[in-house]
Amino acid sequence: MSLPLEPVLAHLEANLEASVERWKELLRIPSVGTDPAHRADTRRAAEWLVAQLRSLGFDAAARDTPGQPIVVGHHPGPGPARGPRVLYYGHYDVQPPDPLELWDNPPFEPTMVEAAHGPRMVARGAVDDKGQLMTWLEALRAWRDVHGTLPVAVSVFLEGEEESGSPSLEPFLESHRDELRADVCVVSDTNMWNIETPALATLLRGLLYTEITLSGPAHDLHSGLYGGAAPNPLNVLSRILGQLHDAEGRVQVPGFYDDVEELDEDERRRLAELPFDEAAFLGSAGLTVSTGETGRSTLERIWTRPTCDINGMWGGYTGPGSKTVIPARASAKVSFRLVPKQNPGKIAAGLREFLAKRTPADCRFELDIHATAAPLRIPVDSPYVQAARRALEQVFPKAPVLIGMGGSIPAVEAIKRLLGMDVLLLGFGLADDRVHSPNEKFELRCFTSGIRTHAGLLAELARLD
Ligand code: BES
Ligand code: MN
Ligand code: MN
Repeated sequence: MSLPLEPVLAHLEANLEASVERWKELLRIPSVGTDPAHRADTRRAAEWLVAQLRSLGFDAAARDTPGQPIVVGHHPGPGPARGPRVLYYGHYDVQPPDPLELWDNPPFEPTMVEAAHGPRMVARGAVDDKGQLMTWLEALRAWRDVHGTLPVAVSVFLEGEEESGSPSLEPFLESHRDELRADVCVVSDTNMWNIETPALATLLRGLLYTEITLSGPAHDLHSGLYGGAAPNPLNVLSRILGQLHDAEGRVQVPGFYDDVEELDEDERRRLAELPFDEAAFLGSAGLTVSTGETGRSTLERIWTRPTCDINGMWGGYTGPGSKTVIPARASAKVSFRLVPKQNPGKIAAGLREFLAKRTPADCRFELDIHATAAPLRIPVDSPYVQAARRALEQVFPKAPVLIGMGGSIPAVEAIKRLLGMDVLLLGFGLADDRVHSPNEKFELRCFTSGIRTHAGLLAELARLD
């Protein structure tokens, strides 16, 4: 006998206000993972989640790592051998809220704002990933409130270092393989196609994030006394970085495209058939023309092609007025989005070669790797994907579509490789949610649809053998 879903959905609807209150509680904790000043706050967020899980009957604890705590919880489910074991992954760390002056309300004072699609929650972490992880947590809570247990065995894994590239994740997975083993991993940290059309992500780009420092003269020089005779690290670095792309927008790092695969027929057709509103996509970013690799569509460019971007560049004098100086050093943060089969280590080696070849006499470069994430392709024919489709079809007016995701989630590939299970990327964000930006938001409608989908997915999973 499987436990019925209907009373769970009714309970959710009747208790929405309490769900939103818990979501706000989590949003009020400024768990900025990359900022050492917020260490106590990240710990507080982890402990808050542990308390939530314990109140749902989980055996849960915040485990110490060299970085931020990892929250692990286990729930036995309804009894022996009913359905698969599910592992939920999420991250409780958020990006820094800067620049603060661009927020309409303080980033850690969650505010409901009325907009075109109804109420939306505005706060840092509203969607990424606190709002999204609350969608499955609230679904679990409703199941437990109504039926006294969960319909399947569940484990939970929450980290506080996703936005820092998940440095503690792999060692933890390696040393807790048996404890974390499950049949499928469920992640809500991606987007829908649009507010009516849900999506399952099947391509996730990887990342190589580097910092390059170029040094020249032993100290800053007067640009009149030395200008013309001394190598200027800012000139040199900008010339080198200017060579990263050719005129066709192709990345010039040696070997960059060696392992890049073209899409197969099926994928190409699916991509071309999606009703993509390019003008709206560009317009929401204040743009009018799609740029990038020649001969590729916008969706190809953001989902299926590797890229290179300078994220920041500094050096020399940047204060008010003028100061005539040749700086002793110049730096840049340069990142690469990677696609399946590309290897972050190999790309880093290629970049080193690229830099070495172009660094002139009396200059030196240093290359630091800040974060890596391997790219991943997710199979679309598993019974879990089918179960997720059915769950989505019961909630949304439009059928789910399969999409790529230009962003990266390091855990997804690591879970696949180290725990040997596939991941369902079932996200409820929208492209205009302003993730990582001021006034980050999550539509209440997406939040509630997400909870309902997860409640239904649990019922669907319980039916699988
Ligand atoms: N949730 C995002 C990834 C994402 C972004 C999904 C936009 C869907 C839409 C994730 O938290 C993220 O920001 N990842 C970083 C990874 C990095 C810091 C290692 C990214 O993609 O930059
Ligand atoms: Mn995220
Ligand atoms: Mn993020």
